[in-house]
Amino acid sequence: MACRIEVKQPAPGYALVVGPGGLAAVPGLLGDLGITGRLIVVTNTDLHGLYAAELKAVLPGADVLVVPEGEQHKSLDTVRRLYRQLVELHADRATILVAFGGGVVGDLAGFVAATYMRGIRFVQIPTSLLAMVDASIGGKVGVDLPEGKNLVGAFHQPVLVVADTALLGTLPDEEWRCGAAECIKHGLIADPLLLDFDAYHRDRAEALVCRSAQVKTSIIQRDPFEKGERVHLNLGHTFAHAIEQVSAYQWRHGDAVAVGLLAAARLSVALGACAPEVETQVSTLLAAMQMPRTIVDLEPAALWNAMATDKKWEQGEARFVLLRGIGVPFVLTGVPRQAVLDVLYSLRGDC
Ligand code: GLY
Repeated sequence: MACRIEVKQPAPGYALVVGPGGLAAVPGLLGDLGITGRLIVVTNTDLHGLYAAELKAVLPGADVLVVPEGEQHKSLDTVRRLYRQLVELHADRATILVAFGGGVVGDLAGFVAATYMRGIRFVQIPTSLLAMVDASIGGKVGVDLPEGKNLVGAFHQPVLVVADTALLGTLPDEEWRCGAAECIKHGLIADPLLLDFDAYHRDRAEALVCRSAQVKTSIIQRDPFEKGERVHLNLGHTFAHAIEQVSAYQWRHGDAVAVGLLAAARLSVALGACAPEVETQVSTLLAAMQMPRTIVDLEPAALWNAMATDKKWEQGEARFVLLRGIGVPFVLTGVPRQAVLDVLYSLRGDC
C-alpha cells in the first residue's frame, strides 16, 4: 500500500489505508483488525454499474443497497428508504455498513450507521478523490435539508477507511478536479507542496491522496469534534455551500469549493489580513487546473442569504475562515456584509 495512517483520536481510532488494490484487501484488513460481522454495502447506481461484479467477488456474502446518484439524494427521504431496507434484511447491531462511493454515499451511509439501532459500525471505501482526501475521514456524516447543506448530521467514526487509488481510474476529469479543490484547500491551510500544479498529475494519485489525507488526519486528531482548529477545514466552504444551495446543486461541491477558496483569499486581502500574492497564487493555480473562478450565474444577495444557514455562524454573526498567509488560517467573526458582497460581485466578472 502507498501509505497507512493510524487515526488515534477519537479513541479507539481507525486505520486509513491508501493504495491500488485496496478494495481487494478489505476482507484481509478487517480480519487483521478483528472486525467481524455481516457486511451490507451502500453504493450508488453509477458505481454499481461499474463495480457490481468486483464487489461481489471481494465481498461475496454482502447484500448491496443502491441509492440514486447525486447530491439531491443526500436527503432524509433516502435515509428513510435505507432504514427500511435494513429492517427488511434483518440487519442488527452487529451489522457493518460499507460505504462504497463518493462523499454523498459516505455521508448518507455514515448517517444511517450513526442512527440505525442507535449506531452500528461502518467502513468507508471512498471512490472519488474528494472522498479519499476529505469526506471519508473524520466521522462527519449527515444529510442536506432544502434550507441548507449538511444541516442534519452526527459525528460517527468509521472502523476502517480504505482508499483504493485504482478506483480513481474511472473517475471523470471534472470529478478529479473537484477532489483537487479539497487538496488545494489543505495546501492553503497547512502544506504548500499541495499548491504545486505538478502534484495534480493523475498518475501521481497515491502520493497526492497520502499527502492531502495527512493534513486532514493531523487536524482532526487534534480537534476531532470541531471545538477549534478543525473549523479551518471549512476554508472556502461558507461560500461553497451557498453556491451549491443557490444553484439547486447544479454546481458540484468541488467546483464550488474552488471558487470558494478564491473568494476566501480575496476576502482575506480585502480585509487587510493577507498579501495580494496569496489571492494571485490561488487564482493562477485554479486557472492552470481549469477550475472555476467566477460565479456569473448566481445572485450575490441570494448567496448572502444562503450563508445565513451556515452552521459556523452564531447568532447571525458572519463567520469566515480566512488566511493571514499560506499555512496561516484563522477565523473572523463579524465580517461586514458589504465586504462579502463586494467579493461576490467581483466574482461575477472575468478574473
Ligand atoms: N470537511 C471538513 C471536516 O471534515 O471538518
